[in-house]
Amino acid sequence: MIIPINVPNIDKEEIREVTSVLLEKTLTSSSFEGGKRVQQFEHLLSKFVKSKFAVAVNSGTSALQASLYALDIKSGDEVLVPSFTFVATANSVKAVGAKPVFVDILRENYTMDPDDLRKKITKRTKAIIPVHLYGHVAYMEEIIELAKKNNLKIIEDASQSLGSKFKGKHSGTFSHLGCFSFYGAKVTTSGEGGAIVTDDKNLCEKLKQIRNHGQSKNNLITRLGLNLRLSEINAAVAKIQMKKLSLFLSEKGTQKFLPSFYKIMMLFYQNNAKMKHLTGICTLLLIKIGIK
Ligand SMILES: Cc1ncc(COP(=O)(O)O)c(C=O)c1O
Repeated sequence: MIIPINVPNIDKEEIREVTSVLLEKTLTSSSFEGGKRVQQFEHLLSKFVKSKFAVAVNSGTSALQASLYALDIKSGDEVLVPSFTFVATANSVKAVGAKPVFVDILRENYTMDPDDLRKKITKRTKAIIPVHLYGHVAYMEEIIELAKKNNLKIIEDASQSLGSKFKGKHSGTFSHLGCFSFYGAKVTTSGEGGAIVTDDKNLCEKLKQIRNHGQSKNNLITRLGLNLRLSEINAAVAKIQMKKLSLFLSEKGTQKFLPSFYKIMMLFYQNNAKMKHLTGICTLLLIKIGIK
């Protein structure tokens, strides 16, 4: 029996919003500020995490790569990443020509170990990418202190942690730039999608250029850029999902007991093969109750 890790919670509202994009026939926009729904989505995200700005892009990987470009990370630079994360964290560093240097993680929450981080800083180190893995916020106070001492930039990989907080502050908002993914298995999804949050106006402007072929507001090509734009169809789904985020998070809270329940059921199952189906059915029922 296959139990899906995450089934996107899509209903009439997303369908209605995507249908209206199709009827309006503005499927995407190459304007500096992005399409109507892209901007609405950015507004909802920045309001939720309490950042000044949000820039939507087409994936979490694009968010990381755009952030590295915005901080002028390049060949010859080293970027510190945790040794345990999704491969996109290190790939984005390679993609801009820099070298990912791996930092050990802590057993207690699988995030970057500040002690090992200190040991891995060299003359070439330019930035740190802590990852808030599985929703666990990395030890940002210690990481920020080390970054300040060594004049390093921080990009938070908050792809898996939209809605996680430490001392009341949202993941992704502790540092210069915070990156989120809206891939299908994430807390909220637009199928594919990503975003960067920041309080720095200058970085926000740079990111908007980078996502749109390096074009400035007056359509001049002023820097290296790519096509990292989020389409209006994806933004329509992302916008509705953002509105439901608080609800999703409270429902996830009610599912905290699922792993313990599953362990108990597996004990029964090991002793009696007939329990196999019951284990599956009960788990699905609980997921359903937790989600709906
Ligand atoms: C920690 C982490 N970083 C980066 C990414 C990349 O995001 P995306 O798949 O949207 O490119 C993901 C998710 O896939 C992730 O879990």
